[in-house]
Amino acid sequence: MAELAVHGGSPVRTGPYPSWPIGGAEERAQLERVLTSRRWFAGLQADDPDAAGTLFGRRFADLHGAGHGLPVANGSVAIEIALRALGIEPGDEVIVPCYTFISTATSVLIVGAIPVFADIDPGSYCLDPADAARRITPRTRAIVPVHLGGHMADMPALLNIARRRGLHVLEDCAQAIDATLSGQKAGTWGDVGTFSFQSNKTMTSGEGGLIMTDSPGLAERITALRAFGRFNTGDAARSSALECRQLSSNYRLSEFQSAVLLGQLDAFPAQDARRQANAARLTGHVNRLPGLRHVRTLGADMKHGYYYYLVRYDPQHFRQVSPDRLCQILSAEGVPFVPGDRRPVYRHLVFQPDNVRSHLQPEAFARYKDRFANDPPQCPAAEAACDCTIMLRHQVLLAAPTDIDDIGEALSKVATHVEEILEEKQ
Ligand SMILES: Cc1ncc(COP(=O)(O)O)c(C=O)c1O
Repeated sequence: MAELAVHGGSPVRTGPYPSWPIGGAEERAQLERVLTSRRWFAGLQADDPDAAGTLFGRRFADLHGAGHGLPVANGSVAIEIALRALGIEPGDEVIVPCYTFISTATSVLIVGAIPVFADIDPGSYCLDPADAARRITPRTRAIVPVHLGGHMADMPALLNIARRRGLHVLEDCAQAIDATLSGQKAGTWGDVGTFSFQSNKTMTSGEGGLIMTDSPGLAERITALRAFGRFNTGDAARSSALECRQLSSNYRLSEFQSAVLLGQLDAFPAQDARRQANAARLTGHVNRLPGLRHVRTLGADMKHGYYYYLVRYDPQHFRQVSPDRLCQILSAEGVPFVPGDRRPVYRHLVFQPDNVRSHLQPEAFARYKDRFANDPPQCPAAEAACDCTIMLRHQVLLAAPTDIDDIGEALSKVATHVEEILEEKQ
């Protein structure tokens, strides 16, 4: 007899989970403030001291214990600008994890450098330091760890490698707002950290990004590069002290987006506390169930960013069911799981040599093509993860604790009715 809802049984629940984004009185008040102030422009370098963007950048940097927080248009250009500010040049090699959002790697190509894909640690889904170290060549200039889903990468190990080999470290923190490892926040371990405020993120203005650094020199270059490459000459005798010295474009964030982000900052602590408590509750359920584990290697030493709550399942226990089908089965029970990444980044067509030809200088393109042909990216841990990972979006963790228990119940139901999945496959 069918027990699973997908086969006609009763679902665990039918009520909805919270949706995202959430905005309210504080965002409205901040927007009103910008609207009526008639300061709709944050200044030529987006650094007007009274601008909403400047205030937001300061408060966001303070939240993370960093020296400078510089808002930009989105998280992808944040990576591009940060790479250029670090001095990454065409033909340089930059190590990136292969299990991430695509723009961690495309941003490297856009600045004319070569993304070198490294494998992930199957425990955390973040860059595997040993595999990253194996891929260093004399042309390597930087490592870009991603705090995947909010789980902190192994920053002590990665920094150790980077220091020994003289490499820059850019943390892609798009998914890890306010994540912490050993008391130190995401984005403050490396030379520079980049963030995204795209609509799905745990703090959002629909689109938006930010670059964080402690280095005054980097902050100055980032400030110039986000607005046409205009540097401040400090020459007070001239009508404008700004001079365009380095080719760049306009990557400023609008004041209206910054206003929304100021509102989001106020709402963040309560939302974060709720996510943390609910995630801990859910982990209590998940890790008790056969064939399931929450993707997390660190305990109290890490505050997870919980952009995603990732669950890995044992394909053998679950009769080789695909992540897509497992999510359909769980959705029928009323629990909105979605599949994790279904392929490592290097399998996207955009990274095929013919598609990157126009972005790389001839010598760099020859190197890239040669490597693709003779030593194609192979990341077995990431390949395996693509076939056995499902996840919840962070807004689900804003539900009531009893709604979280329903997730545990749905997982338990599916984990104990695996024979129905097997019948389905026959
Ligand atoms: C890991 C990672 N890097 C970079 C980005 C790019 O951010 P954005 O969408 O703001 O360009 C994202 C956003 O989805 C991301 O998840």
